[in-house]
Amino acid sequence: MHVRSDYDTLAHLRGQTRGLMYSSPMRANVSTTVTVKPARSLRGHLEVPGDKSISHRYAILASLAEGTSTIAGYSTGADCLATLDCLRALGVTIEHETVNNNTDLAVTVHGLGLGVFKPPTRQLDAGNSGTTMRLLAGVLAAHSFETTVTGDASLRRRPMGRVIEPLQRMGAILESFDGLPPLIIRGTRLQGIDYTPPVPSAQVKSTIILAGLHASGSTRIRELTQTRDHTERALTAFGVDVYRDDDVITITGGTHLQATNLSVPGDPSAAAAWAVGATALPGSDVEINGVGLNPTRTAFLEVLRRAGAHIDLRVTGTLGGEPVGTIRVRHRNLLPIVITPAEVPSLIDELPLLAALAAHGTSMEVSGASELRHKESDRITMLATGLRQLGATVEERADGIRVEQKGPLTGGTTDAFGDHRLAMALTIAALGAQNSSVITGSEAVNVSYPGFFTALDSLRH
Ligand code: S3P
Repeated sequence: MHVRSDYDTLAHLRGQTRGLMYSSPMRANVSTTVTVKPARSLRGHLEVPGDKSISHRYAILASLAEGTSTIAGYSTGADCLATLDCLRALGVTIEHETVNNNTDLAVTVHGLGLGVFKPPTRQLDAGNSGTTMRLLAGVLAAHSFETTVTGDASLRRRPMGRVIEPLQRMGAILESFDGLPPLIIRGTRLQGIDYTPPVPSAQVKSTIILAGLHASGSTRIRELTQTRDHTERALTAFGVDVYRDDDVITITGGTHLQATNLSVPGDPSAAAAWAVGATALPGSDVEINGVGLNPTRTAFLEVLRRAGAHIDLRVTGTLGGEPVGTIRVRHRNLLPIVITPAEVPSLIDELPLLAALAAHGTSMEVSGASELRHKESDRITMLATGLRQLGATVEERADGIRVEQKGPLTGGTTDAFGDHRLAMALTIAALGAQNSSVITGSEAVNVSYPGFFTALDSLRH
Protein backbone atom coordinates (compact mmCIF):
# COMPACT_ATOMS: atom_id res chain seq x y z
CA MET A 1 0.00 0.00 0.00
CA HIS A 2 1.31 3.44 -0.88
CA VAL A 3 1.62 5.64 2.18
CA ARG A 4 2.10 9.36 1.66
CA SER A 5 5.64 10.35 2.52
CA ASP A 6 4.50 13.80 3.48
CA TYR A 7 3.44 12.62 6.91
CA ASP A 8 2.98 16.15 8.16
CA THR A 9 0.41 17.07 5.56
CA LEU A 10 -1.71 14.09 6.50
CA ALA A 11 -1.17 14.62 10.20
CA HIS A 12 -2.33 18.16 9.64
CA LEU A 13 -5.38 16.95 7.74
CA ARG A 14 -6.23 14.50 10.48
CA GLY A 15 -5.81 17.22 13.08
CA GLN A 16 -8.05 19.55 11.12
CA THR A 17 -10.85 17.07 10.95
CA ARG A 18 -10.54 15.78 14.50
CA GLY A 19 -12.47 18.59 16.12
CA LEU A 20 -14.94 18.94 13.28
CA MET A 21 -18.20 20.57 14.33
CA TYR A 22 -21.22 19.39 12.45
CA SER A 23 -23.50 22.11 11.21
CA SER A 24 -26.37 19.89 10.12
CA PRO A 25 -29.02 19.42 12.83
CA MET A 26 -29.06 15.68 11.98
CA ARG A 27 -25.46 15.53 13.09
CA ALA A 28 -25.54 18.01 15.92
CA ASN A 29 -22.73 17.38 18.32
CA VAL A 30 -25.06 17.11 21.33
CA SER A 31 -25.00 14.06 23.56
CA THR A 32 -28.31 12.74 24.83
CA THR A 33 -29.09 10.19 27.52
CA VAL A 34 -32.15 7.92 27.56
CA THR A 35 -33.68 6.02 30.43
CA VAL A 36 -34.99 2.71 29.15
CA LYS A 37 -37.77 1.24 31.25
CA PRO A 38 -38.36 -2.52 31.15
CA ALA A 39 -41.18 -3.61 28.79
CA ARG A 40 -43.59 -6.53 29.23
CA SER A 41 -43.99 -7.01 25.47
CA LEU A 42 -43.77 -5.26 22.09
CA ARG A 43 -47.03 -5.15 20.15
CA GLY A 44 -48.23 -3.33 17.04
CA HIS A 45 -47.29 -2.61 13.46
CA LEU A 46 -44.99 -0.05 11.93
CA GLU A 47 -42.77 0.88 9.02
CA VAL A 48 -39.05 1.47 9.37
CA PRO A 49 -36.83 4.09 7.64
CA GLY A 50 -35.53 3.57 4.13
CA ASP A 51 -32.71 1.09 3.76
CA LYS A 52 -29.35 2.72 4.48
CA SER A 53 -27.31 0.61 2.04
CA ILE A 54 -29.79 1.09 -0.81
CA SER A 55 -30.18 4.84 -0.18
CA HIS A 56 -26.42 5.41 -0.59
CA ARG A 57 -26.35 3.42 -3.81
CA TYR A 58 -29.36 5.13 -5.38
CA ALA A 59 -27.95 8.58 -4.62
CA ILE A 60 -24.53 7.74 -6.10
CA LEU A 61 -25.88 6.00 -9.20
CA ALA A 62 -28.47 8.74 -9.82
CA SER A 63 -25.59 11.26 -9.73
CA LEU A 64 -23.72 9.23 -12.36
CA ALA A 65 -26.81 8.89 -14.55
CA GLU A 66 -27.78 11.32 -17.28
CA GLY A 67 -30.96 13.20 -16.42
CA THR A 68 -33.14 13.61 -13.36
CA SER A 69 -33.90 10.73 -11.00
CA THR A 70 -36.24 10.74 -8.03
CA ILE A 71 -35.75 8.63 -4.91
CA ALA A 72 -38.70 8.16 -2.56
CA GLY A 73 -38.26 6.75 0.94
CA TYR A 74 -34.59 7.80 1.14
CA SER A 75 -33.14 7.20 4.61
CA THR A 76 -33.17 10.21 6.95
CA GLY A 77 -30.15 8.79 8.78
CA ALA A 78 -27.07 10.99 9.06
CA ASP A 79 -24.98 8.50 7.03
CA CYS A 80 -27.17 8.87 3.97
CA LEU A 81 -27.30 12.65 4.38
CA ALA A 82 -23.48 12.63 4.36
CA THR A 83 -23.57 10.92 0.96
CA LEU A 84 -25.89 13.65 -0.41
CA ASP A 85 -23.60 16.32 1.02
CA CYS A 86 -20.50 14.77 -0.62
CA LEU A 87 -22.27 14.42 -3.98
CA ARG A 88 -23.32 18.08 -3.83
CA ALA A 89 -19.68 19.05 -3.19
CA LEU A 90 -18.85 17.19 -6.42
CA GLY A 91 -21.18 19.41 -8.43
CA VAL A 92 -24.38 17.35 -8.39
CA THR A 93 -27.59 19.32 -7.86
CA ILE A 94 -29.77 17.50 -5.34
CA GLU A 95 -33.03 18.64 -3.79
CA HIS A 96 -34.54 16.89 -0.82
CA GLU A 97 -37.58 17.37 1.37
CA THR A 98 -38.82 15.49 4.40
CA VAL A 99 -42.16 13.72 4.12
CA ASN A 100 -44.31 11.41 6.28
CA ASN A 101 -43.72 13.22 9.58
CA ASN A 102 -40.00 13.51 8.91
CA THR A 103 -39.54 9.73 8.64
CA ASP A 104 -38.63 9.74 4.92
CA LEU A 105 -36.87 11.94 2.43
CA ALA A 106 -38.01 12.55 -1.14
CA VAL A 107 -34.81 13.21 -3.09
CA THR A 108 -34.41 14.57 -6.62
CA VAL A 109 -30.99 14.12 -8.21
CA HIS A 110 -29.96 15.93 -11.40
CA GLY A 111 -27.34 13.46 -12.60
CA LEU A 112 -24.19 14.66 -14.34
CA GLY A 113 -23.32 11.46 -16.23
CA LEU A 114 -20.39 9.07 -15.90
CA GLY A 115 -16.93 10.47 -15.11
CA VAL A 116 -17.86 14.18 -15.11
CA PHE A 117 -18.06 15.14 -11.43
CA LYS A 118 -16.59 18.60 -10.70
CA PRO A 119 -13.46 19.13 -8.57
CA PRO A 120 -14.64 19.92 -5.05
CA THR A 121 -13.62 23.17 -3.39
CA ARG A 122 -13.53 21.53 0.06
CA GLN A 123 -12.74 18.21 1.71
CA LEU A 124 -15.56 15.70 1.52
CA ASP A 125 -16.87 14.72 4.96
CA ALA A 126 -18.33 11.21 5.09
CA GLY A 127 -19.20 11.69 8.78
CA ASN A 128 -19.64 8.27 10.42
CA SER A 129 -20.27 6.46 7.15
CA GLY A 130 -17.86 3.81 5.87
CA THR A 131 -20.16 3.14 2.91
CA THR A 132 -19.94 6.79 1.81
CA MET A 133 -16.16 6.90 2.00
CA ARG A 134 -15.50 3.55 0.35
CA LEU A 135 -18.06 3.73 -2.44
CA LEU A 136 -17.16 7.31 -3.35
CA ALA A 137 -13.48 6.29 -3.46
CA GLY A 138 -14.41 3.92 -6.31
CA VAL A 139 -16.01 6.77 -8.26
CA LEU A 140 -13.37 9.41 -7.47
CA ALA A 141 -10.53 7.07 -8.45
CA ALA A 142 -11.66 7.68 -12.05
CA HIS A 143 -11.99 11.48 -11.83
CA SER A 144 -8.91 13.40 -12.88
CA PHE A 145 -8.65 15.73 -9.90
CA GLU A 146 -7.59 15.45 -6.28
CA THR A 147 -10.20 14.84 -3.58
CA THR A 148 -9.71 14.42 0.15
CA VAL A 149 -12.36 12.35 1.90
CA THR A 150 -12.42 12.42 5.67
CA GLY A 151 -14.86 11.53 8.43
CA ASP A 152 -15.51 11.59 12.15
CA ALA A 153 -13.22 10.07 14.78
CA SER A 154 -14.84 6.64 14.42
CA LEU A 155 -14.49 6.56 10.62
CA ARG A 156 -10.88 7.74 10.86
CA ARG A 157 -10.10 4.50 12.74
CA ARG A 158 -11.57 2.22 10.06
CA PRO A 159 -9.45 0.27 7.56
CA MET A 160 -9.33 1.63 4.00
CA GLY A 161 -6.52 -0.65 2.72
CA ARG A 162 -9.22 -3.03 1.51
CA VAL A 163 -10.35 -0.48 -1.11
CA ILE A 164 -6.98 1.24 -1.66
CA GLU A 165 -5.33 -1.98 -2.80
CA PRO A 166 -7.74 -2.95 -5.63
CA LEU A 167 -8.16 0.67 -6.75
CA GLN A 168 -4.39 1.03 -7.04
CA ARG A 169 -4.32 -2.15 -9.12
CA MET A 170 -6.80 -0.45 -11.44
CA GLY A 171 -4.37 2.46 -11.79
CA ALA A 172 -5.68 4.95 -9.22
CA ILE A 173 -3.43 7.03 -7.00
CA LEU A 174 -4.58 6.98 -3.39
CA GLU A 175 -2.89 8.06 -0.22
CA SER A 176 -3.87 7.40 3.34
CA PHE A 177 -2.51 7.46 6.85
CA ASP A 178 -1.19 3.90 7.03
CA GLY A 179 -4.42 2.63 5.55
CA LEU A 180 -6.62 4.93 7.67
CA PRO A 181 -8.59 8.01 6.54
CA PRO A 182 -8.39 10.72 5.39
CA LEU A 183 -8.10 9.37 1.87
CA ILE A 184 -6.49 11.53 -0.76
CA ILE A 185 -7.61 10.35 -4.16
CA ARG A 186 -6.03 11.48 -7.42
CA GLY A 187 -8.18 10.09 -10.18
CA THR A 188 -6.82 8.66 -13.41
CA ARG A 189 -7.96 6.49 -16.30
CA LEU A 190 -8.64 3.09 -14.79
CA GLN A 191 -8.26 -0.39 -16.28
CA GLY A 192 -10.52 -3.31 -15.45
CA ILE A 193 -9.08 -6.01 -13.17
CA ASP A 194 -9.88 -9.50 -11.94
CA TYR A 195 -10.06 -9.36 -8.18
CA THR A 196 -10.98 -11.58 -5.23
CA PRO A 197 -11.54 -9.49 -2.09
CA PRO A 198 -9.77 -11.11 0.88
CA VAL A 199 -12.66 -10.19 3.24
CA PRO A 200 -16.32 -10.68 2.39
CA SER A 201 -17.50 -7.07 2.10
CA ALA A 202 -20.31 -5.52 0.09
CA GLN A 203 -18.61 -2.16 0.44
CA VAL A 204 -15.38 -3.42 -1.14
CA LYS A 205 -17.29 -5.21 -3.90
CA SER A 206 -19.33 -2.07 -4.60
CA THR A 207 -16.26 0.18 -4.64
CA ILE A 208 -14.67 -2.01 -7.31
CA ILE A 209 -17.91 -2.24 -9.30
CA LEU A 210 -18.22 1.58 -9.29
CA ALA A 211 -14.59 1.96 -10.37
CA GLY A 212 -15.18 -0.77 -12.99
CA LEU A 213 -18.08 1.24 -14.42
CA HIS A 214 -15.57 3.99 -15.28
CA ALA A 215 -12.69 1.68 -16.34
CA SER A 216 -11.62 0.43 -19.75
CA GLY A 217 -12.47 -3.22 -20.41
CA SER A 218 -14.21 -5.55 -18.00
CA THR A 219 -13.82 -5.89 -14.23
CA ARG A 220 -14.43 -9.25 -12.62
CA ILE A 221 -14.92 -9.72 -8.89
CA ARG A 222 -14.97 -13.17 -7.35
CA GLU A 223 -16.96 -13.30 -4.13
CA LEU A 224 -15.87 -16.21 -1.97
CA THR A 225 -18.87 -15.56 0.31
CA GLN A 226 -21.89 -13.75 -1.06
CA THR A 227 -22.56 -10.33 0.46
CA ARG A 228 -25.54 -7.99 0.02
CA ASP A 229 -26.15 -7.45 -3.70
CA HIS A 230 -27.86 -4.05 -3.68
CA THR A 231 -25.30 -2.45 -6.02
CA GLU A 232 -25.85 -5.12 -8.66
CA ARG A 233 -29.66 -4.80 -8.42
CA ALA A 234 -29.48 -0.99 -8.41
CA LEU A 235 -27.30 -0.93 -11.52
CA THR A 236 -29.89 -3.03 -13.34
CA ALA A 237 -32.52 -0.47 -12.28
CA PHE A 238 -30.35 2.25 -13.87
CA GLY A 239 -30.18 0.24 -17.12
CA VAL A 240 -26.68 -1.24 -16.72
CA ASP A 241 -25.97 -4.92 -17.36
CA VAL A 242 -24.20 -6.68 -14.51
CA TYR A 243 -23.44 -10.35 -15.01
CA ARG A 244 -23.25 -12.85 -12.19
CA ASP A 245 -21.94 -16.26 -13.12
CA ASP A 246 -21.73 -18.44 -10.03
CA ASP A 247 -19.48 -16.40 -7.73
CA VAL A 248 -18.07 -13.99 -10.36
CA ILE A 249 -19.59 -10.58 -11.04
CA THR A 250 -18.63 -8.87 -14.30
CA ILE A 251 -19.10 -5.21 -15.13
CA THR A 252 -18.02 -3.50 -18.35
CA GLY A 253 -16.84 0.10 -18.29
CA GLY A 254 -18.26 3.04 -20.16
CA THR A 255 -21.95 2.11 -20.11
CA HIS A 256 -24.39 5.00 -19.65
CA LEU A 257 -26.72 5.00 -16.66
CA GLN A 258 -30.31 6.01 -17.37
CA ALA A 259 -32.02 8.27 -14.88
CA THR A 260 -35.00 6.63 -13.23
CA ASN A 261 -37.59 6.95 -10.44
CA LEU A 262 -37.08 4.66 -7.46
CA SER A 263 -38.45 3.93 -3.98
CA VAL A 264 -36.23 2.62 -1.20
CA PRO A 265 -37.65 -0.32 0.80
CA GLY A 266 -37.65 -0.21 4.61
CA ASP A 267 -34.36 -1.19 6.22
CA PRO A 268 -34.30 -4.81 7.45
CA SER A 269 -31.47 -3.91 9.85
CA ALA A 270 -33.79 -1.36 11.49
CA ALA A 271 -36.65 -3.90 11.48
CA ALA A 272 -34.30 -6.34 13.23
CA ALA A 273 -34.52 -4.30 16.46
CA TRP A 274 -38.26 -4.94 16.71
CA ALA A 275 -37.97 -8.53 15.49
CA VAL A 276 -35.41 -9.25 18.23
CA GLY A 277 -37.46 -7.43 20.89
CA ALA A 278 -40.57 -9.42 19.90
CA THR A 279 -38.62 -12.70 19.96
CA ALA A 280 -37.38 -11.92 23.47
CA LEU A 281 -40.47 -10.59 25.27
CA PRO A 282 -43.41 -12.92 26.07
CA GLY A 283 -46.74 -11.85 24.56
CA SER A 284 -45.07 -9.85 21.76
CA ASP A 285 -46.57 -9.61 18.29
CA VAL A 286 -44.97 -7.09 15.91
CA GLU A 287 -45.58 -6.58 12.20
CA ILE A 288 -43.16 -4.53 10.09
CA ASN A 289 -44.53 -3.45 6.72
CA GLY A 290 -42.83 -2.28 3.53
CA VAL A 291 -39.50 -3.75 4.53
CA GLY A 292 -36.78 -4.99 2.18
CA LEU A 293 -36.63 -8.80 2.05
CA ASN A 294 -33.53 -9.25 -0.08
CA PRO A 295 -32.29 -12.74 0.91
CA THR A 296 -28.74 -11.41 1.35
CA ARG A 297 -30.09 -9.38 4.31
CA THR A 298 -32.64 -11.59 6.07
CA ALA A 299 -30.45 -14.32 7.59
CA PHE A 300 -31.11 -12.90 11.07
CA LEU A 301 -34.73 -14.10 10.75
CA GLU A 302 -33.48 -17.69 10.44
CA VAL A 303 -31.56 -17.22 13.68
CA LEU A 304 -34.67 -15.81 15.37
CA ARG A 305 -36.61 -18.91 14.24
CA ARG A 306 -33.91 -21.06 15.84
CA ALA A 307 -34.28 -18.94 18.97
CA GLY A 308 -37.94 -19.98 19.10
CA ALA A 309 -39.82 -17.07 17.45
CA HIS A 310 -42.81 -17.58 15.23
CA ILE A 311 -41.97 -15.66 12.04
CA ASP A 312 -44.18 -15.00 9.02
CA LEU A 313 -42.61 -13.46 5.93
CA ARG A 314 -44.77 -12.21 3.10
CA VAL A 315 -43.28 -10.74 -0.09
CA THR A 316 -45.82 -8.24 -1.42
CA GLY A 317 -43.89 -6.84 -4.40
CA THR A 318 -40.58 -5.52 -5.66
CA LEU A 319 -39.07 -2.03 -5.69
CA GLY A 320 -36.12 -1.37 -8.00
CA GLY A 321 -35.52 -5.13 -8.25
CA GLU A 322 -35.57 -5.55 -4.45
CA PRO A 323 -38.20 -7.84 -2.88
CA VAL A 324 -40.36 -5.99 -0.35
CA GLY A 325 -42.98 -7.19 2.12
CA THR A 326 -44.04 -7.80 5.70
CA ILE A 327 -42.29 -9.45 8.61
CA ARG A 328 -44.47 -10.58 11.52
CA VAL A 329 -42.74 -11.84 14.66
CA ARG A 330 -44.48 -13.45 17.61
CA HIS A 331 -42.82 -14.59 20.80
CA ARG A 332 -43.04 -18.31 21.43
CA ASN A 333 -39.91 -19.50 23.22
CA LEU A 334 -36.42 -18.27 23.93
CA LEU A 335 -33.78 -20.86 23.08
CA PRO A 336 -29.95 -20.77 22.96
CA ILE A 337 -28.43 -19.76 19.62
CA VAL A 338 -25.14 -20.55 17.92
CA ILE A 339 -24.18 -18.50 14.85
CA THR A 340 -21.66 -20.10 12.51
CA PRO A 341 -18.83 -18.28 10.67
CA ALA A 342 -20.58 -19.03 7.34
CA GLU A 343 -23.64 -17.08 8.48
CA VAL A 344 -21.72 -14.01 9.65
CA PRO A 345 -21.46 -11.98 6.39
CA SER A 346 -25.22 -12.08 5.85
CA LEU A 347 -26.10 -10.87 9.36
CA ILE A 348 -23.03 -8.85 10.34
CA ASP A 349 -25.04 -5.72 11.21
CA GLU A 350 -27.58 -7.68 13.28
CA LEU A 351 -25.01 -9.43 15.53
CA PRO A 352 -25.19 -6.80 18.31
CA LEU A 353 -28.98 -7.27 18.43
CA LEU A 354 -28.64 -11.06 18.45
CA ALA A 355 -26.28 -10.78 21.42
CA ALA A 356 -28.84 -8.48 23.08
CA LEU A 357 -31.46 -11.20 22.53
CA ALA A 358 -29.45 -13.64 24.66
CA ALA A 359 -29.25 -11.03 27.43
CA HIS A 360 -33.00 -11.68 27.95
CA GLY A 361 -32.16 -15.03 29.51
CA THR A 362 -30.51 -17.50 27.18
CA SER A 363 -27.13 -17.95 25.48
CA MET A 364 -25.67 -16.77 22.19
CA GLU A 365 -22.35 -17.63 20.67
CA VAL A 366 -20.77 -16.42 17.43
CA SER A 367 -17.34 -17.08 15.94
CA GLY A 368 -15.66 -16.00 12.70
CA ALA A 369 -16.85 -12.46 13.32
CA SER A 370 -13.59 -10.51 13.75
CA GLU A 371 -14.93 -8.01 11.14
CA LEU A 372 -17.08 -6.69 13.99
CA ARG A 373 -13.93 -5.08 15.38
CA HIS A 374 -13.75 -2.81 12.29
CA LYS A 375 -17.23 -1.33 12.40
CA GLU A 376 -18.33 2.05 13.80
CA SER A 377 -16.78 0.85 17.06
CA ASP A 378 -14.94 -2.31 18.02
CA ARG A 379 -18.27 -4.06 18.32
CA ILE A 380 -16.87 -7.10 20.15
CA THR A 381 -15.26 -5.16 22.99
CA MET A 382 -17.91 -2.45 23.20
CA LEU A 383 -20.82 -4.85 23.05
CA ALA A 384 -19.25 -6.97 25.81
CA THR A 385 -18.65 -3.83 27.88
CA GLY A 386 -22.18 -2.50 27.38
CA LEU A 387 -23.96 -5.80 28.07
CA ARG A 388 -21.85 -6.36 31.18
CA GLN A 389 -22.76 -2.87 32.41
CA LEU A 390 -26.40 -3.94 32.13
CA GLY A 391 -25.63 -7.06 34.18
CA ALA A 392 -24.97 -9.78 31.56
CA THR A 393 -22.28 -12.43 31.68
CA VAL A 394 -20.24 -12.06 28.50
CA GLU A 395 -17.09 -13.71 27.20
CA GLU A 396 -15.20 -11.66 24.65
CA ARG A 397 -13.17 -13.63 22.08
CA ALA A 398 -10.77 -12.55 19.35
CA ASP A 399 -13.29 -13.38 16.63
CA GLY A 400 -16.60 -13.42 18.45
CA ILE A 401 -18.58 -13.25 21.62
CA ARG A 402 -20.49 -15.51 23.98
CA VAL A 403 -23.36 -14.25 26.11
CA GLU A 404 -24.70 -16.52 28.81
CA GLN A 405 -27.55 -15.07 30.78
CA LYS A 406 -29.50 -16.97 33.39
CA GLY A 407 -32.59 -15.00 34.36
CA PRO A 408 -33.25 -11.32 33.68
CA LEU A 409 -30.62 -8.59 33.60
CA THR A 410 -30.38 -6.25 36.57
CA GLY A 411 -30.17 -3.17 34.33
CA GLY A 412 -27.56 -0.46 34.76
CA THR A 413 -25.85 2.54 33.22
CA THR A 414 -24.04 2.15 29.92
CA ASP A 415 -23.06 4.06 26.79
CA ALA A 416 -23.66 3.69 23.05
CA PHE A 417 -19.92 4.22 22.42
CA GLY A 418 -20.77 6.42 19.43
CA ASP A 419 -22.18 3.43 17.56
CA HIS A 420 -25.79 3.43 16.30
CA ARG A 421 -26.10 -0.36 16.29
CA LEU A 422 -24.88 -0.57 19.89
CA ALA A 423 -27.31 2.17 20.97
CA MET A 424 -30.19 0.09 19.56
CA ALA A 425 -28.89 -3.29 20.75
CA LEU A 426 -28.30 -2.09 24.33
CA THR A 427 -31.78 -0.53 24.39
CA ILE A 428 -33.36 -3.82 23.27
CA ALA A 429 -31.35 -5.69 25.94
CA ALA A 430 -32.46 -3.18 28.60
CA LEU A 431 -36.14 -3.84 27.83
CA GLY A 432 -35.80 -7.20 29.59
CA ALA A 433 -34.07 -5.90 32.72
CA GLN A 434 -35.53 -5.85 36.23
CA ASN A 435 -34.83 -2.12 36.61
CA SER A 436 -34.63 0.89 34.33
CA SER A 437 -31.31 1.42 32.53
CA VAL A 438 -29.55 4.56 31.44
CA ILE A 439 -27.84 4.79 28.04
CA THR A 440 -25.67 7.81 27.35
CA GLY A 441 -24.79 8.88 23.82
CA SER A 442 -28.13 7.52 22.63
CA GLU A 443 -28.25 10.11 19.81
CA ALA A 444 -26.04 7.67 17.89
CA VAL A 445 -29.29 6.09 16.61
CA ASN A 446 -29.62 9.11 14.28
CA VAL A 447 -26.95 7.60 12.04
CA SER A 448 -29.47 5.10 10.65
CA TYR A 449 -32.76 5.34 12.58
CA PRO A 450 -33.66 8.83 13.85
CA GLY A 451 -37.17 7.78 14.98
CA PHE A 452 -35.98 4.73 16.91
CA PHE A 453 -37.09 5.81 20.40
CA THR A 454 -40.46 7.11 19.17
CA ALA A 455 -41.07 3.77 17.44
CA LEU A 456 -40.15 1.96 20.67
CA ASP A 457 -42.70 4.01 22.60
CA SER A 458 -45.38 3.10 20.05
CA LEU A 459 -44.69 -0.65 20.44
CA ARG A 460 -43.96 -1.07 24.15
CA HIS A 461 -46.58 -2.53 26.50
C1 S3P B 1 -22.67 -2.23 3.94
C2 S3P B 1 -21.92 -3.36 4.03
C3 S3P B 1 -21.48 -3.93 5.31
C4 S3P B 1 -22.33 -3.42 6.45
C5 S3P B 1 -22.52 -1.94 6.42
C6 S3P B 1 -23.18 -1.52 5.12
C7 S3P B 1 -23.01 -1.71 2.60
O1 S3P B 1 -20.14 -3.54 5.55
O2 S3P B 1 -21.77 -3.80 7.68
O3 S3P B 1 -23.34 -1.51 7.49
O4 S3P B 1 -23.87 -0.82 2.49
O5 S3P B 1 -22.42 -2.18 1.63
P1 S3P B 1 -18.89 -4.36 4.97
O6 S3P B 1 -18.90 -4.24 3.50
O7 S3P B 1 -17.68 -3.69 5.58
O8 S3P B 1 -19.06 -5.77 5.45
